[in-house]
Amino acid sequence: MSSDEASPGAERRVLIASANPLFALGLQRMVAERWGKRGAEIRLAGSMQEATASMEEWKPDLIIVDYDDVGKPGSIQREALLGRFITEKRPMQVMLVSLRESGEVVVYDRRTLTPDQAEDWLDLPWEPAQEIVESSKLSRSGNMRHFVIVGLLTIVLSVVVYFLLTSAGLIPTPASTQALIYESQARLQVALISFLFSLIVSFMGYSIVVFRQKPGETGDGPHIKGSTRLEIVWTILPLALVIYLSFIGSQALGEMIRPEPQALEVKVIGFQWSWLFEYPEYGIQSPTLYLPVDRQVRLLMTSRDVIHSFWVPEFGTKQDVLPGANLVKELRITPNRIGDYKVRCAEMCGGAHAYMESPVKVVSQQDYNAWIEEQLKASNASPAERGQRVSANNCLSCHSIDGSKMLGPTWQGLYGSEVQLADGSKVIADEAYILESIVDPNAKIHQGYPPGVMPATYTTLLTEQQINDIVEFIKTLE
Ligand code: CUA
Repeated sequence: MSSDEASPGAERRVLIASANPLFALGLQRMVAERWGKRGAEIRLAGSMQEATASMEEWKPDLIIVDYDDVGKPGSIQREALLGRFITEKRPMQVMLVSLRESGEVVVYDRRTLTPDQAEDWLDLPWEPAQEIVESSKLSRSGNMRHFVIVGLLTIVLSVVVYFLLTSAGLIPTPASTQALIYESQARLQVALISFLFSLIVSFMGYSIVVFRQKPGETGDGPHIKGSTRLEIVWTILPLALVIYLSFIGSQALGEMIRPEPQALEVKVIGFQWSWLFEYPEYGIQSPTLYLPVDRQVRLLMTSRDVIHSFWVPEFGTKQDVLPGANLVKELRITPNRIGDYKVRCAEMCGGAHAYMESPVKVVSQQDYNAWIEEQLKASNASPAERGQRVSANNCLSCHSIDGSKMLGPTWQGLYGSEVQLADGSKVIADEAYILESIVDPNAKIHQGYPPGVMPATYTTLLTEQQINDIVEFIKTLE
């Protein structure tokens, strides 16, 4: 059952699949009335075999399937028919249609249409089916020119982007052997980033400009499908690259933490909001980190309160500092450039986190020895001088010695003065009161300073002698 009047030009091919002759003829009439004069070619398929044969040989644009035609032997199995749409490479339209005795036409999505409305879907706009182009059938010679141009663009742009990124001062000048290792890795990453950025932007920009829609063009571009070779290339290349990067990254990491036997050991204590450095070899404490050049230092780091992070950008490495005696963290640095640096805190740790900086001095071995000697001499100093040193590391980030108001009361003129307490009473600031305020800060609260701000932990952090030295130091501040 078919009508084979082939007519020239774009012609819509409609296949009506139904085992029910009334359905088929009824729809054929409707479609012929609507499209006949505009060149629709209609075929009928009364069985599954006829339907599939027509789909393969004749390649219809639209298939109208009888929705109610199920269950009977030889009838159209719409599921099997629809399955072919998924595997067919050629785009086709399908309609599942149910005809009612009342004359209603029900389209597959179950919208109920009156016979008048049913005519509307026959009027849906139609364009000739788009051919899908297999990428392997694309002409290569014609594309070579484009690839060469985009390739050159990519190379030029990569160089420009790499130059801009490396001259933007994103990485400080390295001042340790670890930072040199880090810098070489970072430069490789920046080179790769520059190339990938340029590759994408060049292809995109070139396509936007050269293949833009010209005036008068209204149709879609060709539908290009599949390229196994390209897919293999863009899978294997990045995979190999990532494996290579992780390999050299692990090597670099191993190199950066490699211990040296002659390493100098320094204990680092982070606290809200400063740093303190201890040289256990000499029993020295210092608010400045002095390091001899070209000798590995092994920093053993801990925190008195919350999590801080030890970071000297020029050293190219960083380590979180945690509270807890069992959580001492190690960081190895070999400074290789004499100069003044700053250790910053790189972990949000409270109100003055941004100001948690301490000086770092990388000096020659002679200067380092001289400094150590000076420190050792100073430890034979008077109690008040020792107290000044201890309080610089422990107290003076919250108490001033010049009368200015900080987190805690100033120490200037404190000794012997009359202190107004929060409970309304007054007390003379004698030795006993000052000692009590260090050991048990909440016993008497100075008016105007909220309770609980000063930690009650100084008896564990400081020795009895150090606390007495601080009291002696305060007594000298008139
Ligand atoms: Cu310590 Cu931020």
